[in-house]
Amino acid sequence: MSLLKQHKVTAFTVLVCVVTFTTLLFSFSLTDPSLYFKYAMRLSDSFFSKGQCGCRHCMTELEDDAWFTERLNLSIHPLLTRRNSLLTEDTYRWWQWLQAEQHPANLSEVVEQLFQLIPDVDQYMDAGPERCRNCAVVGNSGNLKGSHYGSLIDSSDVIIRINQAPTSGFEEDVGRRTTHHVMYPESAKDLDNATSLLLIPFKTLDLQWVISALTTGSIKNTYIPVKSTIRANKDRVLIYSPTFFKYVSESWLENHGRYPSTGFLSLMFAIHICDRVKVFGFGADHRGNWHHYWDQSYLGDAFRHTGVHDADFEYNVTLLLADKHKVELFKGR
Ligand SMILES: *[C@@H]1O[C@H](CO)[C@@H](O)[C@H](O)[C@H]1NC(C)=O
Ligand SMILES: *[C@@H]1O[C@H](CO)[C@@H](O)[C@H](O)[C@H]1NC(C)=O
Ligand SMILES: *[C@@H]1O[C@H](CO)[C@@H](O)[C@H](O)[C@H]1NC(C)=O
Ligand SMILES: *[C@@H]1O[C@H](CO)[C@@H](O)[C@H](O)[C@H]1NC(C)=O
Repeated sequence: MSLLKQHKVTAFTVLVCVVTFTTLLFSFSLTDPSLYFKYAMRLSDSFFSKGQCGCRHCMTELEDDAWFTERLNLSIHPLLTRRNSLLTEDTYRWWQWLQAEQHPANLSEVVEQLFQLIPDVDQYMDAGPERCRNCAVVGNSGNLKGSHYGSLIDSSDVIIRINQAPTSGFEEDVGRRTTHHVMYPESAKDLDNATSLLLIPFKTLDLQWVISALTTGSIKNTYIPVKSTIRANKDRVLIYSPTFFKYVSESWLENHGRYPSTGFLSLMFAIHICDRVKVFGFGADHRGNWHHYWDQSYLGDAFRHTGVHDADFEYNVTLLLADKHKVELFKGR
């Protein structure tokens, strides 16, 4: 075979491969567009990865930003385990102060009961050169309406939703998959068997509530009436660590607001367990309005200035994280 012919054969083979591959991607994307994003992202990740993690960009880089490293502390794990459940006196006092619980039960006894029911494993602390964990944190802002982010959200490995967030009827904009649903007793909703319930406890009673809601249903009130039972897979229940909660409040929010919002706590969870984080549905919509994507009722200034959260400061930190390429912020419309 002449050299020219050989070149032609090689070029032809490459062409066939490219066409086959593109066709495959395209046919995948017809059945499920999120697969297209997923494979395209995987390819570029494995090609460009620099070693801190298996992605092209990692949450921690060798030459990291000073503002970020001053705040980040990876030795504080986001999830409660038996091992980290013994709170320092300072942390316990801070945590009890959040909702001023009057007669708290004995925490170590409740924790013991809890871990007889749910798994006690230190999950997701597996960062390394092999891992490329893509996460989507989906807030509840009205700016998701008409955004068409659904497939992009669904292409993530971890998809975190918050409080009452529905997907049914909003798939085009918010996606259909949920791996983690973050809630507290007063904001609880039923989940499917494959979704992890991530409980944010604000008091000892919240831990007792999750035990009760998964078993006897005896707790019907906290400071307001709450769901007495919950449909969720108890093998997938996770508890946000009070120590981590305090760290987020102090280190990232410099104690602005009484405590961080569920959205911000979810974002910080993602920052600690993911290599890449995409953020959706945070902030106001393009008219500057605050409402949930599933209803039109105006949340208004009462929402931004509850005196509980400092939404402006939280949003500033989120913008800074985006500026420093630690998260990708999708602002919707
Ligand atoms: C991170 O947190 C641990 C545990 O609270 C603490 O001992 C350590 O000093 C912190 N590291 C930094 C750099 O702040
Ligand atoms: C809580 O219970 C544990 C184990 O039963 C006990 O050792 C501890 O003293 C109790 N703590 C308080 C504050 O009562
Ligand atoms: C839910 O998942 C668990 C395993 O985590 C399994 O044992 C159980 O049968 C499942 N339940 C349903 C209703 O699918
Ligand atoms: C947020 O950032 C803006 C611009 O940097 C600043 O003017 C504003 O005071 C900040 N808000 C808070 C609550 O820190």
